[in-house]
Amino acid sequence: MLYRVLIVLISNIIASSAFSAGVWDKSIADLPQNQKITVYRSPTCSCCGLWLEHLTKNGFEVNDIKTTDMQTVKQKYGVNGELASCHTAVVEGYVVEGHVPAADIRKLLQEKPSVIGISVPKMPHGTPGMEMSGRKEPFSVVSFDKDGESQSFTDYLFY
Ligand code: CU
Ligand code: CU
Repeated sequence: MLYRVLIVLISNIIASSAFSAGVWDKSIADLPQNQKITVYRSPTCSCCGLWLEHLTKNGFEVNDIKTTDMQTVKQKYGVNGELASCHTAVVEGYVVEGHVPAADIRKLLQEKPSVIGISVPKMPHGTPGMEMSGRKEPFSVVSFDKDGESQSFTDYLFY
């Protein structure tokens, strides 16, 4: 009996982790493929590498730049401490900070708002590249202007 319960528990865990790995990778067929994006990241950051995979799976062509001085990169692109995460990307003149879902980068490029860029500050569990714990924290993608003022871009309360 206990054995059976364990089997059910284990298969549930496997099923849910498989789901969480794939949840961000729905292909967006009506959007252009091979969108070029430049990503600055630390060579020692593993979640950054996973976010790059997420972008590649969603049709982005990544120019991968590894640097040990992310502080200078963030200053250059107007990413203050409140907005900051690990990696910083640039696409079509917009800054994309942190574990932003590919769908929101697409939305940014379609809507072209007059902002500096978008960010998922810090590194919430469950965001693309941050699925390893199996936890899913509610999070928001925010847009920000040149003064560092931010506002909600997309809210992910349940996903
Ligand atoms: Cu990260
Ligand atoms: Cu990163």
